[in-house]
Amino acid sequence: MNILITGCAGFIGFHLSKKILQDSNHKVLGIDNLNNYYSTKIKKDRLIQLKKHKKFYFKKVDISNYDELRKIFLKNKVNVIFNFAAQAGVRYSLVNPDSYIKSNLKGFLNLLELAKINRTKLIYASSSSVYGEQKKFPVLEKYSGVQKNLYASTKLMNEKLANIYHQNFKIPLIGLRFFTVYGEWGRPDMMYLKYMDAIKRGKTINLYNFGKHTRDFTYIDDVVEILFKILKIKKKQVFENGIYNICSSNPVNLTNFLDYIEKIYGKKCKIKKLPKQKIEILKTHGSNSKIKNLVKKYKFISYKIGLKNTIKWFKNYYR
Ligand SMILES: NC(=O)c1ccc[n+]([C@@H]2O[C@H](COP(=O)([O-])OP(=O)(O)OC[C@H]3O[C@@H](n4cnc5c(N)ncnc54)[C@H](O)[C@@H]3O)[C@@H](O)[C@H]2O)c1
Repeated sequence: MNILITGCAGFIGFHLSKKILQDSNHKVLGIDNLNNYYSTKIKKDRLIQLKKHKKFYFKKVDISNYDELRKIFLKNKVNVIFNFAAQAGVRYSLVNPDSYIKSNLKGFLNLLELAKINRTKLIYASSSSVYGEQKKFPVLEKYSGVQKNLYASTKLMNEKLANIYHQNFKIPLIGLRFFTVYGEWGRPDMMYLKYMDAIKRGKTINLYNFGKHTRDFTYIDDVVEILFKILKIKKKQVFENGIYNICSSNPVNLTNFLDYIEKIYGKKCKIKKLPKQKIEILKTHGSNSKIKNLVKKYKFISYKIGLKNTIKWFKNYYR
């Protein structure tokens, strides 16, 4: 098969590309615009890893450019699309709202239009942020919420657009609501890596809401294993724009998570505790019964093991 992975130089896209190239005979067509929302160095280093594989092809393209996308899509007879290209991050939506509209809305619409040509399977990234603030946990996919920031609104809009394209054009679709994914080669803008960086440099880090957030941290290896299982699903009925939580369903208090980083790192972090920001969510805790049902039994890795692996990678990569 020929698999198109958008955002292949990003955290999740990179790991899935690597997994497919290592464990199957499929060809991976990776695209990414290599934007500088965070260090382009780590994006280029991820690509160096992928380019070691013979069946990996990379093209620097922006998913908001439909003509370019269409050329690649038709030339390579794509069988499956995974969409990870997006403007991620919650706080950055206050700084650069345009990038969310361009990548998350226009870009996603372009991918739906592409998928329409041959009714190509499209598996796309949504986010736990669509739930907004909830009171009842674990959160089921059928719950609705009030989105608290532009990022979350664009992700919900993706699910709605996907629904319309599924109904009107019978495109096979699956939407995945990822909950705080962490791990090796992770995004430097995320708290756990900022924290390790602050420890390394002896810098002071801002900790909002006095560190009282709770997150359903989900290890990258689990995410990739699940995505790989989804890739193998043949049953057409599964691709009816079902929405699935991708989470370990094991919420951890941020302070405990950060304490564990200090313990394994072997060094304390200097912290400045600050009040909560308006656009942030206090707690995430998803139910993973639906996805476990789909991929048949799955045991998630504990955050202690995931963090140990991540710290080992961090110390080696940022020597
Ligand atoms: N990591 C998480 O915890 C998490 C949680 C919920 C949802 N998600 C979603 O999962 C997806 C992947 O997240 P990630 O953590 O790997 O993020 P990431 O920022 O590391 O990866 C996204 C990649 O897409 C590329 N990109 C962005 N806009 C593009 C465009 N217009 N055209 C082409 N390439 C573009 C970026 O350069 C980047 O390499 C995103 O859709 C994100 O919103 C991630």
